[in-house]
Amino acid sequence: MIKSLPLSEVYRLLEPGPVVLVATADKNKNNVMTMSWHTMMEFEPPLIGCVISGRNHTFDTLLKTKECVIGIPTAKMIDKVVKIGNCSGRDTDKFKKIGLTPLPASRVKAPLVKECYANIECKISDANLVGKYNFFILKAVKAWIDPKAKNPKIIHHGGKGNFTISDKAVKIASKMK
Ligand SMILES: Cc1cc2nc3c(=O)[nH]c(=O)nc-3n(C[C@H](O)[C@H](O)[C@H](O)COP(=O)(O)O)c2cc1C
Repeated sequence: MIKSLPLSEVYRLLEPGPVVLVATADKNKNNVMTMSWHTMMEFEPPLIGCVISGRNHTFDTLLKTKECVIGIPTAKMIDKVVKIGNCSGRDTDKFKKIGLTPLPASRVKAPLVKECYANIECKISDANLVGKYNFFILKAVKAWIDPKAKNPKIIHHGGKGNFTISDKAVKIASKMK
């Protein structure tokens, strides 16, 4: 038996993972937001597409500075990840309030997030779809990873407060990179 699924629920089937943090800096004022709507677009140089709502402070800062850091949190950060996604850098110093540690990046002014197991320094590659879809195409210019993190548990968003924690890594021969 199948039943009709409201179109408003479709995103929950295709939600890309993992949930990430987007760190920005405007005149040395650091901010960070939670993001789950993103997609890989090219292997190398890595291109990453992401939808960032025009209501978010991050949208303004990213457009203005043209750079950000994408941090990948592990499952143990899930409470912080949700808090970060439920307040705004317009009126809150999220690094301080939520207890995150900014570290200097090498190619952008936005900070790395120390608590994340990986961080990707990005610059806007193409903003042509921002006006119509809030869709930013970012180019990764430098990436960092915690060498101790082996198959870390990462967070996937299922919408409406539902999350999946990935905890099993499998390797299957494939032609994809
Ligand atoms: C799990 C989760 C995923 C989210 N994904 C996105 C997203 O992909 N794009 C977006 O614009 N906002 C997303 N948000 C909402 C922003 O994180 C939220 O609006 C945040 O408060 C914006 O902060 P800012 O105003 O400091 O930029 C998400 C929130 C949560 C909790």
